[in-house]
Amino acid sequence: MAEITSIDIDIFAEEVKQGLSGFPKTLPSKYFYDEKGDELFQAIMQLDEYYLTRSEYEIFQIQKQDILEQFSKDGSAFKLIELGAGDGTKTKVLLKHFVADGVEFSYAPIDISGNVLEQLTADLNENIPNLKVEAVQGDYFEALAGLNKNHTSKEVVLFLGSNIGNFTNSEAEAFLSELSENLSQGDLLFIGFDLMKDPDKILNAYNDKKGITRAFNLNLLTRINNELGGDFILANFRHVPTYDPVTGETKSHLVSIKDHSVSIEETGESFHFNAWEAIHTEVSQKYSYRMINEFAEKSGFRLIKNFTDCEENYVNSLWEKQ
Ligand code: AVI
Repeated sequence: MAEITSIDIDIFAEEVKQGLSGFPKTLPSKYFYDEKGDELFQAIMQLDEYYLTRSEYEIFQIQKQDILEQFSKDGSAFKLIELGAGDGTKTKVLLKHFVADGVEFSYAPIDISGNVLEQLTADLNENIPNLKVEAVQGDYFEALAGLNKNHTSKEVVLFLGSNIGNFTNSEAEAFLSELSENLSQGDLLFIGFDLMKDPDKILNAYNDKKGITRAFNLNLLTRINNELGGDFILANFRHVPTYDPVTGETKSHLVSIKDHSVSIEETGESFHFNAWEAIHTEVSQKYSYRMINEFAEKSGFRLIKNFTDCEENYVNSLWEKQ
């Protein structure tokens, strides 16, 4: 995670103030990811209940040749651009296969964190020495615009891990439309979506037995305590995920177990919680095939192919910019 500056602190304080003053109370999920949050998310991805990572890994392992044929129909060169690359564990399955095949391509991971990119580049240089890596630090769209300036081969953008699910549907549509505007006709987007399924399976994925997801959610309050001078008592909040099988919306909440107030120095305010009042902290949207197709069409793409795992938990959907 990038170091937080004093300007960032002001923005953090303002967003927390806004979120806790409104009704229902909310906190932005982007603040999950400090060093502790990154660690907890790594642990979540290893959990038995968190099927998302394993499903995407299985799709890549089993269908890597088919994926390659779709990315490069006639063996033509392409530029693989990954938004929010992280540690690249799953992507490496594809990268190794593409290098072994001998197809001409380069890999441009984009991430807001310079630290993440340094570690990823060092790891790739060591483990896949023949891979051309051009890491770009920054905001997704700024970085994409920069890459487009010397754009000679087809671009294939990866947006994996069902990261799209952490946007509301209207935010997702706006994001995908902006992404599409940054691509040229014929460029591809390969995007991960978590599918609607047995509600119990979804709820278990966000409420694991070891309590790691609970700790991940509560870490938001620890972060406010540490960085904004808050006095949250973690034991006063319960981690409560919900799933709506009609809309596919999965939400995480922190529910106050009693009537009490919390003061947060940097906001200059104190916030009152009624007994059983909830803070909504995250959306993790689940999708139907119909929703996926509609998202593609509304944002200027055509759906080419859906790749799914054998239990049909998850889809990597391949879209072409129109
Ligand atoms: C990063 N993102 C796709 C995860 C998800 O499933 O929404 C974050 C997460 N939240 C709780 N568990 C995992």
